[in-house]
Order: sequence, then C-alpha cells, then structure tokens
Amino acid sequence: MKIKQRKFDVVIVGAGGAGMRAALQLSEAGFKVAVLSKVFPTRSHTVAAQGGIAAALGNITEDDWRWHMYDTIKGSDYLGDQDAIEFMCRHAAEVVYELEHFGMPFDRLANGKIYQRPFGGQSLHYGEEQASRSCAVADRTGHAMLHTLYQRNVSTNTQFFVEWLGLDLIRDEEGEVLGITALEMETGEIMILQARATLLATGGACRIFEASTNALINTGDGLGMVARAGIPLEDMEFWQFHPTGVYGAGMLISEAVRGEGGYLINAQGERFMERYAPHAKDLASRDVVSRAMVIEMMEGKGCGPDADHLLLKLDHLGAETIQSKLPGIREIAMRFAHIDPIDAPIPVVPTAHYMMGGIPANYHGQVVAPYKTSPEEVVQGLYAVGECACVSVHGANRLGTNSLLDIVVFGRAAGNQIIKDLSKNNHHKPLPQDAAEQTLTRLARLDSQKDGANVAETSADLRKTMQTHCGVFRFPSVLKEGVEKINAIAERTKYTEIQDKSRVFNTARVEALELDNLMEVAVATMIAAEARHESRGAHAREDFPERDDQKWLKHSLFFSKDKHLDYKPVRLKPLTVESFPPKPRTY
Ligand code: FUM
Repeated sequence: MKIKQRKFDVVIVGAGGAGMRAALQLSEAGFKVAVLSKVFPTRSHTVAAQGGIAAALGNITEDDWRWHMYDTIKGSDYLGDQDAIEFMCRHAAEVVYELEHFGMPFDRLANGKIYQRPFGGQSLHYGEEQASRSCAVADRTGHAMLHTLYQRNVSTNTQFFVEWLGLDLIRDEEGEVLGITALEMETGEIMILQARATLLATGGACRIFEASTNALINTGDGLGMVARAGIPLEDMEFWQFHPTGVYGAGMLISEAVRGEGGYLINAQGERFMERYAPHAKDLASRDVVSRAMVIEMMEGKGCGPDADHLLLKLDHLGAETIQSKLPGIREIAMRFAHIDPIDAPIPVVPTAHYMMGGIPANYHGQVVAPYKTSPEEVVQGLYAVGECACVSVHGANRLGTNSLLDIVVFGRAAGNQIIKDLSKNNHHKPLPQDAAEQTLTRLARLDSQKDGANVAETSADLRKTMQTHCGVFRFPSVLKEGVEKINAIAERTKYTEIQDKSRVFNTARVEALELDNLMEVAVATMIAAEARHESRGAHAREDFPERDDQKWLKHSLFFSKDKHLDYKPVRLKPLTVESFPPKPRTY
C-alpha cells in the first residue's frame, strides 16, 4: 500500500502549552514546523488549568527562586531530579515575563504588577511562612496562556494539523526517530510525517481513571507511541489526585479557592485540615490533603447520606471576590453541582488530575533511555515535554501551578535544544522500507477482527479497575488483584473489534486506537505501583506506610514488551546550588 508522505524539519504531536511553546521557538527560528492536534489547538487540555503559573516574582510576598526550588523538591517527596528542578525554578520569572510580553492578560495589582496568589506547598524562607507565588489570570490562567501561544504561532507560520492523531514512531536500525505515522480523522487516511526532530507533547492520561479532571482527549497517546517503540516509561506509579473535583462529575475546582481563603469542612462542619497539617492547613500539598479527605470519609465524617464527599466552603469570601477572582469555578459549580458558591459550599472529592510519570526526558527535552552502560542515553531525534514527559521535576507529587510553569520552561528549552541539534546537519535521513508497517499491521488487525472485544466495554473495565485498585490509598492484596485484572484486560485489548469500518470521521476507530495507548499507561501504572514497597508522595501503601530512602530513592522504568521493571538513581545534585538532602516532610 502506498502511503502519502510529507516532510518537515520538526513534527510536534500535541498543541497544548508545551507543544505550542516549543513550536513558537522553532518557527521563529525559521524551521518548518508541523503541530498535530486531536482538537482545535485552543481546546487542548491546557485550557483547563485554572489557578496560575508559579514563579518567584515577589509581587505580594517577598520571594526567591531557591525557596521555590526547595518547595518543589519537598513537594516531590525528594523523588524529583534536583538539576531539572533548579533549571525550572531559576527560569520561572523569565518565562512569565516573556508570556506577559507576548500579550497574556495577567490580573494586576494596584501598582500594575502581576497578581500572585498563594497555592499549596509554597513557602518563604524554606518552609517558614506561606508564599504568594502563583501568577494568575482569574481562574482561567491556562485558557489565557493557550490563546496567547496560539496567536503567536499563527503569526510565525507554524502549520497546524487539526483533528489528526499521532499513531507510531518511525525508527531506523540505529534507533534514531525519523518521524511518525498519523491518522487524519476527516478522511481516515494514514500519512507518514517525516521529520529531523520529533517532539511529543501529548499531555496526561488521567482517562485511565473513572473519576478524573482530565478532558476526554487525555489518553496518553505519546506514552503509547514510546512504549510500542521499546522505550520505557518512568515513575508510572505516581498519580496526583486533586483534592477538589466536583462530587459526581469530576470537573476541577481550582486550589485557587483555598489560596483565596476557602477551606474544606466535614459533615460536622469541622475544618479538619487543621488536624492533619497544623501549619499549612488547607494549603498543604495535594497528596496530604487528598489522603486526609479519604480518611475523613472512611471514618464516617463525609457529607451526604453516603458520607462520600466533603464540602469546600467559600461563601465567606463574598460575592465580589468570587465574581472577580473565581468566576470560572462559580460557573462550574452552578452547572455541574447546581450550587452557587456565593451562597453554599461545593461538594467535592479527590479526583485523578495529573500524571507525575511519563516519557523519560532530561531538562533539554531530549528523551533518554537505558542503553549499554548508561541509564540515560539520548534517543536521537526524539524529544518530549509537558505532562507526557517525566523530567522529573514533580517526582512523587506535583505542587499546584508548577505544571503551567513546566510546560513553558521545558517547551522553550526543547525548542532551543532542537535548534542546536538541527544546526549540526540539515538533511533528512532516509526512511526505512517498513516505516509504516507497525501502524498498518495494527489497523489491518482492527479492520479484520471478528468476534472481538467491545471497545467501550473494555475501556470502562480498564477505568473501573484503575479506580478500584490503584487509588489514593493502595492495599497489597487489592494491588495484586489489580495486576491480574489489568493484564487480563490488556489481553482483551489485543482483540478489540469495531463494527463501523468507514473512513470519514470514524470515531470508533479513533477510540480503539486511543484504548491501545490507555492500556499501555494502565499496565505500567499498576505493575510499578505493586512493585514499589514504600509510601512516597502520591503513592500511599497501607502495608509500607513510610518513605524508604535506603531502598526506594530511585525512579522506576517500565518496559512494555516484556513487562519488566528497572530502576535508575534520582539526580540529587543541582546545577549550581547546594543539594537539598531528603528529610521528613511535614506541613
Ligand atoms: O487547582 C488548580 O488550579 C490546578 C492547578 C494545577 O494543577 O497546577
């Protein structure tokens, strides 16, 4: 079968903040850049980021990037790589001012400076007092960022391929990545997009869980591509549950609510976080707050007839604050919880929100994998940024508003690294004869499958299994059973069947292909979680309640082909400052 081919300098998969920040750097430098997106770029999931972008500007409280760095390392429960964390925090102010100059409409203080609000785990003087570090556009910061970056990219002639799904990486015999195969949804046509550099920016994959703040598009497509190409996935056991998803619906209610003075109460009206985190209270880091909420519910202090949620109280903030600083969450609460938060508290539960693990990458955006004697050999031609990448700046638990920072810092850094790498040679390497074979085999199997598994049912089983067996608290027998169940579901996924074989906008085919990616993510998660015998950050084991730095201060690497795990050390040495050695973590 003859497959159409197109050639670019760089192909970027994903048009969220990370992909678009990298694209901007590259198209401004004169490269021919293609950005593929399953949805129109301004509908990418970055649009849902609410509360802000962290940077130590010091506009309200004093601040210092070293305090930000300390908070991020502590928040990561010491699993974050300290060189990458230094890089991110040191460049934070610069990238925020850059966004401001691009036209991002930040809220302002009376003196004209950017408005900053407190968020969980942010401190002054290495843990002493609460900092105000999150630069905000009301509670629609990601929305404003995405529109700003899209407009910039249009002006620099980035080419957008809208409603395209990236399918598989193309690698040559030496393992160098030479582009991708992709599906144009409108026509159902497969195309080879050849590139001198391929950048994955496909975002998170919380759609492996039943209750999630994530968009339907967050199906881990980049992780699936990488796993099928034989590259491991890193730290997949670590998933963040955001404390305040709307009860029963999952939509995010920003931590900005608590930053502005809102707080959680139980059925007795008690502000229970005072017991769990006496110093930071409701602004302890997310893993701590989510666990406290689950304990309250397990002890019967949850709200409602089934004691299965808590309440987020903000009516005391007043209509003016809610309408000016939190208009988006008011709309969400009214639409999905039928509550006006000006008058009544919002029912909330911890909800899957963010994937700390992902494609192993360094702080230049280069994908790295074990090879011969090095655990971090650069995979030539391949880059990853944003939530799909594990750099690892968030370690075992991410701090709120560090994600918008991550995507612009590392989007720009990857752009710069690609510019450097591409200046060394300016030709496309020839594609292997079988460049599209993996993709064509997958599609032919799907088209010819008879008596196979139903895609919707298999996806639902996957989500139920992950939610039940790999949630906020993890129990040994439940995890063990989870591994068996998820392996069985993975077997069924090999035989998924679609009834509709048509080409044009065939969403059944797209969902079947997305399920392959979700499956890679889910299997890696369950197996890595079962194997990590300690509690660290968001990974809370009932049978190993303590962090164990002797045995487990290391990153996991999961290889899909033979389902084996390997480990590599955490990078404890920062770039220019003293290391922050692990110590007990309290808030
Ligand atoms: O709560 C929030 O506004 C979410 C922010 C984040 O995840 O960084």
